[in-house]
Amino acid sequence: MGANHTTTSFLFFATLLYLTTTTAIANDPCASEGDDSDISVIPIYGNCSPFKNYSTSWETTIIDMASKDPLRLQYLSTLVATKRRKRASVAPIASGQAFNIGNYVVRVKLGTPGQLFFMVLDTSTDEAWVPCTGCTGCSSTATYSPQASTTYGGPVACYAPRCGQVRGALPCPSTGSNACTFNQSYAGSTFSATLVQDYLKLATDALPNYAFGCVNSVSGGSIPAQGLLGLGRGPVSLLSQAWSRYSGVFSYCLPSFKSYYFSGSLKLGPTGQPRRIRTTPLLRNPRRPSLYYVNLTGVTVGRVRVPLQSEFLAFDPNRGSGTIIDSGTVITRFVEPVYNAIRDEFRKQVKGPFVSIGAFDTCFVKSYENLAPLIKFQFTGLDLTLPYENILIHSSNGWVACLAMAAAPNNVNSVLNVIANYQQQNLRILFDTVNNKVGIARELCN
Ligand SMILES: *[C@@H]1O[C@H](CO)[C@@H](O)[C@H](O)[C@H]1NC(C)=O
Ligand SMILES: *[C@@H]1O[C@H](CO)[C@@H](O)[C@H](O)[C@H]1NC(C)=O
Ligand SMILES: *[C@@H]1O[C@H](CO)[C@@H](O)[C@H](O)[C@H]1NC(C)=O
Repeated sequence: MGANHTTTSFLFFATLLYLTTTTAIANDPCASEGDDSDISVIPIYGNCSPFKNYSTSWETTIIDMASKDPLRLQYLSTLVATKRRKRASVAPIASGQAFNIGNYVVRVKLGTPGQLFFMVLDTSTDEAWVPCTGCTGCSSTATYSPQASTTYGGPVACYAPRCGQVRGALPCPSTGSNACTFNQSYAGSTFSATLVQDYLKLATDALPNYAFGCVNSVSGGSIPAQGLLGLGRGPVSLLSQAWSRYSGVFSYCLPSFKSYYFSGSLKLGPTGQPRRIRTTPLLRNPRRPSLYYVNLTGVTVGRVRVPLQSEFLAFDPNRGSGTIIDSGTVITRFVEPVYNAIRDEFRKQVKGPFVSIGAFDTCFVKSYENLAPLIKFQFTGLDLTLPYENILIHSSNGWVACLAMAAAPNNVNSVLNVIANYQQQNLRILFDTVNNKVGIARELCN
């Protein structure tokens, strides 16, 4: 495939996604949180985010985001639990390109008085971290200054049990500082951080002595500029550290990709969660303790239940295979045989010809859109029929639509199926790690 072809595809794709910008709404959607205990979940390149980029069209931004999915899958495949005091598990750095993945940010304050950060929300990571004052290689001017906080609790001791729970914790030095330090890789970068404690403030909640990484150095690319908040289910995540307050329960609703001006919401704790919601068991993989696995048992396209070999869907803790729900992947990725079967059935029901554009291999003339079948994901005890908005991506010129899913990249040895953001738009997803359930309900969350 020549360079010209690639360029043409890219330009074509750049005009592909049709994303309306919504006109003025009553209140300033970007105003800081009020008394509400819900936390705004802001698309990272949306209007309320400090990372919005006026020089890039919103369409191009989304294409760019989806192009980072392979890296996200690679990251997910490295999340294998490590044993303490062995060499830190740091995956090799990918090509020299600057990757910065993370699709949604939340407004968080650290310390007293509160220092504001727009941290990436990541349901597949446990730790929280922010760039620290004096960091080498950090791109942000927003850095956490321990000196400026009256509630700074100092570094966590290297021998403290909490330090041993952090992924990539480094062995305690025999001399000198006794601080807990860890090295991690994140999307093509590696960074080194000290685990410190201070207040973490989320909307109206203040959590004392929150342990998070103060990033001292970054190499090999870039990490989310203002840090990351881990909502995984492992021992150092927000859920675990704030167990007494949130009882291991949270939910989020991701805004529509069309809603540049709007944000979704994150609700922490059992209060205010939907009472009647259909649920499926939440599965726990001790070898990948951060991830939220569910049991995907089948996929229906239109009226046809797609024949899928169960080995590609089966939850297997040893291999890490199965299906997860993730906040950091843009379009749903299935292992190749599963995706191919779904796509082939979808194509059978829609008139071709089909063209490939970027990550999408099933794009067709939009006038055949009325033939497009609904797609239903079947989980144990819960069927989720996706609305069309979560199945198709539309062209700005009005004549192309694409199936908005793809195969896992084959250069990543992935065994995971990942239910991603595009397919989660306007759904409330409830994670209950005590009763081991995931609830899903339609909700207009913009
Ligand atoms: C905005 O996007 C343009 C074009 O992709 C890029 O060159 C520029 O670095 C971006 N600016 C920021 C602040 O990210
Ligand atoms: C941890 O990261 C720092 C800074 O990038 C580096 O100097 C150090 O060698 C790393 N340690 C290990 C064990 O990888
Ligand atoms: C997932 O569902 C299949 C089909 O119902 C069942 O055979 C399997 O035991 C389930 N797996 C888990 C881990 O619950």
